[in-house]
Amino acid sequence: MRIHCASQCSTVVDNQYTDLANYYDCLMTSGYYDHAGYAQSLHRILTGGKTVLDLGVGTGLLIEQLLQLADYQITGVDCSPDMIRQAEDRLKHYPVELVCQDIQNYTSDKKFSSAISLGGVFIFTDSPVEKQYRLYSYCLQKQVCIALLHKIYGLLEDDGVLCISLQHSRGNSDLLIRDNITYAQKLMFSGNQAHKTYTFSRDGTVLSEQTLTMRFFDETEYLNLFESTGFILYGLDETERFFVFRKVIA
Ligand SMILES: C[S@@+](CC[C@H](N)C(=O)[O-])C[C@H]1O[C@@H](n2cnc3c(N)ncnc32)[C@H](O)[C@@H]1O
Repeated sequence: MRIHCASQCSTVVDNQYTDLANYYDCLMTSGYYDHAGYAQSLHRILTGGKTVLDLGVGTGLLIEQLLQLADYQITGVDCSPDMIRQAEDRLKHYPVELVCQDIQNYTSDKKFSSAISLGGVFIFTDSPVEKQYRLYSYCLQKQVCIALLHKIYGLLEDDGVLCISLQHSRGNSDLLIRDNITYAQKLMFSGNQAHKTYTFSRDGTVLSEQTLTMRFFDETEYLNLFESTGFILYGLDETERFFVFRKVIA
């Protein structure tokens, strides 16, 4: 495994996974995400090539599962040192390249056959009230999101695919996870931003709490965003876990 660390994470993402990183795996492996299922869905989609850029690799849970399915050549980028340190530990026996950097600043001479985001830099959720899907990003400014999509486009091979996960909205909820820890999430909206507070507690004592903010785009806006940057939407994969976009050469 090769690891590169940018000297400092950019301030573009001030929404860093810090406190949350301490409990991330505990939450994820208590059934919050089905990483094995997401890996299987991706494996069915990624038939065109095996070079993968993971946009927000986190602690490496998805990569670990993907590598059980085929010899993918994976580069995982994440701006949170606390998250990527765990990925480094998890994936130390695999030939994976990990980069600790805001994806905005990431450059490479390589071209990838796919770029994937499972709850990472971009996420889709369903929005039951508005009855539509929404695109979410930790990058709060529209211009930054557009620049990011241009960057991803440039990093993909001709005909490369961009796969962004669809998460079903859990709204405000509590979940008993491992070691008698309760996880609670609270969502608040203001304008085009969603503020999500994650709280981990045991016996009424708060162990860790963090609020992250994401910008969202409604359907018309995100369709324009992808189209203007040269992606066409293929739609949801058959397992309904990923929105699949393809790079179109102008
Ligand atoms: C919910 S976690 C998902 C992690 C992983 N994909 C998984 O499935 O467990 C979101 C991750 O995206 C990373 N992230 C968000 N915006 C980013 C950016 N602009 N550049 C790099 N990483 C980013 C966060 O640091 C965090 O580790």
